[in-house]
Amino acid sequence: MASIFSPSTVPVFFLLVLVLLGLGETRDPFACDPKDRATKNLPFCKVSLPIRLRVKDLIGRLTLQEKVTLLVNNAAAVPRLGIKGYEWWSEALHGVSNVGPGTKFGGPFPAATSFPQVITTAASFNASLWEEIGRVVSDEARAMYNGGMAGLTYWSPNVNIFRDPRWGRGQETPGEDPILAGTYAASYVRGIQGTNGNRLKVAASCKHFTAYDLDNWNGIDRFHFNAQVSKQDIEDTFDVPFRMCVKEGKVASVMCSYNQVNGVPTCADPNLLKGRVRGQWRLNGYIVSDCDSVGVFYTNQHYTSTPEEAAADAIKAGLDLDCGPFLAVHTKNALEKGLVTEGDVNGALANTITVQMRLGMFDGEASAQPYGKLGPRDVCTAAHKELAVEAARQGIVLLKNRGPSLPLSPRRHQTVAVIGPNSNVTVTMIGNYAGIGCEYTSPLQGIGRYAKTIHEPGCTNVACSNDKQFGSALNAARQADATVLVMGLDQSIEAETVDRADLLLPGHQQELVSKVAAASRGPTILVLMSGGPVDVTFAKNDPKIAGILWAGYPGQAGGAAIADILFGAANPGGKLPMTWYPEEYLKSLAMTDMAMRPRRSKGYPGRTYRFYNGPVVYPFGYGLSYSHFLHTLASAPKTVSVPVHGHRHGNTTNISNKAIRVTHARCAKLSVSLHIDVKNVGSKDGSHTLLVFSAPPAGNGHWAPHKQLVAFEKVRVPAKSQQRVKINIHVCKLLSVVDRSGTRRIPMGVHNLHIGDVKHSLSVQAETLGIIKS
Ligand SMILES: *[C@@H]1O[C@H](CO)[C@@H](O)[C@H](O)[C@H]1NC(C)=O
Ligand SMILES: *[C@@H]1O[C@H](CO)[C@@H](O)[C@H](O)[C@H]1NC(C)=O
Ligand SMILES: *[C@@H]1O[C@H](CO)[C@@H](O)[C@H](O)[C@H]1NC(C)=O
Ligand SMILES: *[C@@H]1O[C@H](CO)[C@@H](O)[C@H](O)[C@H]1NC(C)=O
Repeated sequence: MASIFSPSTVPVFFLLVLVLLGLGETRDPFACDPKDRATKNLPFCKVSLPIRLRVKDLIGRLTLQEKVTLLVNNAAAVPRLGIKGYEWWSEALHGVSNVGPGTKFGGPFPAATSFPQVITTAASFNASLWEEIGRVVSDEARAMYNGGMAGLTYWSPNVNIFRDPRWGRGQETPGEDPILAGTYAASYVRGIQGTNGNRLKVAASCKHFTAYDLDNWNGIDRFHFNAQVSKQDIEDTFDVPFRMCVKEGKVASVMCSYNQVNGVPTCADPNLLKGRVRGQWRLNGYIVSDCDSVGVFYTNQHYTSTPEEAAADAIKAGLDLDCGPFLAVHTKNALEKGLVTEGDVNGALANTITVQMRLGMFDGEASAQPYGKLGPRDVCTAAHKELAVEAARQGIVLLKNRGPSLPLSPRRHQTVAVIGPNSNVTVTMIGNYAGIGCEYTSPLQGIGRYAKTIHEPGCTNVACSNDKQFGSALNAARQADATVLVMGLDQSIEAETVDRADLLLPGHQQELVSKVAAASRGPTILVLMSGGPVDVTFAKNDPKIAGILWAGYPGQAGGAAIADILFGAANPGGKLPMTWYPEEYLKSLAMTDMAMRPRRSKGYPGRTYRFYNGPVVYPFGYGLSYSHFLHTLASAPKTVSVPVHGHRHGNTTNISNKAIRVTHARCAKLSVSLHIDVKNVGSKDGSHTLLVFSAPPAGNGHWAPHKQLVAFEKVRVPAKSQQRVKINIHVCKLLSVVDRSGTRRIPMGVHNLHIGDVKHSLSVQAETLGIIKS
């Protein structure tokens, strides 16, 4: 950047001020530089023209050789047309991350706000929080882009269903429920992409499409796994978050996965990509492969016999961008062999370039654009850091509070023994797909703000392979007024490429917890850090363990939030976004068995609270508060009529005992509204999550989940007061179930709605309209 000052004449403090104000280096335009006379008047640079025409103009100018080099994440420059190279791969799962090569930290951008891992944030059940985090993350992403340190295309969020509790990447997801995951997806994507019409603040990507939730289990890895999935499970479980991400979140990208689904690699399946994502759901954006997926289905899966066929299959299936070099290397030969046409390649480029144009990348000076002024001072701001603490406070789940013993009191608990391998961790708290946090507050530091601490790790790390340090941990517990054990997992136990072998605390951790609890002078509180559920039946049942908190991976300020909850400065309101199964659940349960529904004859238990009915340690949706909330139903309809088109073929005179195809119903605006009064009868202000479950009429037992979440709403209720909450339930979307052939139907009859202990029967009836042709 040219400067009118020569460096030697500029006082150092002035340079510093420039950097602090974010007026330091800004990147040169990606394309259409107003200083470049050769290109600035070309139609594709004309901001006044519709994007469709600009894209068409640009593609018309590219040579075939140039085109194929734009099909990959590390897209080449086209200097002839004033277009720079672009790295598509950046990540922002819960804060700007340095996992992808598109983003680096350093210079004026040493760090970014690192929010809690998604599984923790999901536990808040607060859609406005999810959107707010997205807004903050995209402010920081734009600031880093302007400073030349990041891209504008982020391959987040991960919205796969947390199907099996062993999955190492379950931590990245919003949990096991499709509606929860879909609502998270749509909210985070709206936050990160902005809602300025067709323009994008940054572009998100919902991944990994689909049925991707196994990394490496029992010798089977994600690169070779063929997920056998029924049409029924696809429609009512695996597709739901992606459909909501595309249709409600209007995401700018979907990523296909490594695995095969029913024998076809997802990135080579035209039914999935062209058919469903682009055709049915109308993705306005690009489809990208997981990194080297195309290479993987050729090299590892031997799905095609030549690399050219693999390249052609991917493009013809609807893939627009390859993460990895494969398409840049093999597409030209595939074209020459006639396996794919230049028209197919143009279609892919139109999808990627359109997103770049919607991002403003062809609009000249970045600094002149809506987000052009964001810079270093907009990253790690006080407000952003406060939101990170707040998100952790909202996501932490109180699982046990015997007595109650919590919250602790700074007056009565002046000395706290802080024990455990996770008691003074920093980067453990940010989980995976993280960046560099602005600053960290460990649990030890957080608790230190309220009490004098005696710190004893008890074990060197979470593997906790011996009891050598137990003696000093027990001594600390004997001396203190209260004991907090911070235990659990980290990325050595659950991570990308690492699925868990069991659900127990690793090594000697359980022994440490029990021995410390037995020795403690004051109340013992167990704080768990983990992405996946942990079988802590022993602690649940141990009367010496007064309280249990699950913190997930609570982000850069996790220790502050944990301490705020332990000492009652914050009232916990998180709810588990996944079932906590006992270890026995895994007995002869292959992680590779994708079926959601139980097969009782085979002893197969089914998966997630929607289908599994056996014993649990803590159920989906569980979480306590320091207050007590009561629900009453203020008003709710007893019946709802579904207008149904008659049918020339088939008998519609008696449909009272049937399940009507959603496609035969008039669904628009067909919803029921519940009004629920939530009363806080405790003495502390608090937030409460209303979870509305529906149990469809009996008689469809072989189809339907025994219950499913149809709506949730978080509400803040001051102590001793009451709030009325209105909840709308879209009848066709939410009260429908899916039959064995994958068809969505609305069962006629009584649907039982449960909101906490309130039950309401809603009778769903058909109302036949005129006969139409089928
Ligand atoms: C806790 O961790 C911090 C930061 O990593 C470190 O500076 C401090 O010495 C640790 N405290 C104890 C008591 O180990
Ligand atoms: C339709 O069902 C009704 C009642 O079950 C029956 O009376 C009627 O005969 C049926 N009509 C046809 C065309 O099958
Ligand atoms: C329609 O089905 C219901 C439930 O099976 C039955 O009780 C009723 O008698 C039937 N009505 C006619 C007209 O067949
Ligand atoms: C949801 O999160 C937002 C953002 O932190 C917060 O302002 C709001 O109070 C939360 N809602 C409830 C009901 O707690």
